[in-house]
Amino acid sequence: MSGLPKVELHLHLEGAAPPTFIRGLAKEKHLDISGIFDERGNYRYRDFRDFLKVYEAATSALRTPGDYQRLALAVLEESAASGVVYSETFVSPDFCGGRDLGAWREYLHAMQEAADQAERQMGITLRGIVTCIRHFGPEKARGTARCAAETAGDWIVGFGIAGDEKIGAPKDFRWAFDCAREAGLRLTAHAGEWGGPESVRAALQDLEVERIGHGVRAIEDPALVDELAERGTVLEVCPGSNVALGIYKDFREHPIDALDRRGVKVTISTDDPPFFHTTMVREYEELHRAFDWDEGQFRKIARQSLDAAFCDADTKAKIA
Ligand code: ADE
Ligand code: ZN
Repeated sequence: MSGLPKVELHLHLEGAAPPTFIRGLAKEKHLDISGIFDERGNYRYRDFRDFLKVYEAATSALRTPGDYQRLALAVLEESAASGVVYSETFVSPDFCGGRDLGAWREYLHAMQEAADQAERQMGITLRGIVTCIRHFGPEKARGTARCAAETAGDWIVGFGIAGDEKIGAPKDFRWAFDCAREAGLRLTAHAGEWGGPESVRAALQDLEVERIGHGVRAIEDPALVDELAERGTVLEVCPGSNVALGIYKDFREHPIDALDRRGVKVTISTDDPPFFHTTMVREYEELHRAFDWDEGQFRKIARQSLDAAFCDADTKAKIA
């Protein structure tokens, strides 16, 4: 499975930080975050809300552009080892410089340096999607969107929203999404992970996104499934994440296969791999086991993913 070329569209950079890496940074900075690790050194959380808290505590060890440069390189090494040739990663001015544009540019430069090095040495291409955080509220999202708009270009290709889907409504973030769209950024939103079909509909109607992060709970509304298939809306599906967080009991119960059969454009990603004990290779293996997906199916999905990537056509042509 590691030999198959893979395209990953949904990966949170901080969420991809190996626990050993975060522990090392915390030690350097004399920061006590030992409570977020279990006795085996893995991240420990009880449920999704707790996961978000642990995620933010781990992120607090990432303090400087240099930390993000090392993180990006470590994450890209891991992805390349799984056969990923193109990755779109969520990055956030909320965590990188507190939405200060000057600081954000420095973080961005550091991440781009890592991306350039990884492209030269490992043949993996990285692009960034700036993400606002839903539970931080619409006002902060405006600042995040302004940073995104100012740095939109060939490396920052998109804008999105992550965080607690149960807090606020997509329409509260309309200004931020309009600002990003006007700057030429492509749009995606986490929806239909913790919220049901109505949450997916709201993201499509109120934010006019072209991709949905997760979106799997659309399966609960057959009319919505048909609409997604007709519109060609792409779902960034992260099956291992959904299983680890308890949305589905196991891969066999996961709706990715049903959505694919109904004509919805699904893609495969890991979300926050060390938190969910997954890799792109593991996602492929589990999907093969659960649904008998073969090489032809995985190649179809990788093509679908590259088509849906937010980078420009020249970049896609180089990867294809
Ligand atoms: N941020 C990191 N992982 C996330 C997830 N699975 N859902 C919402 N926000 C997130
Ligand atoms: Zn996510």
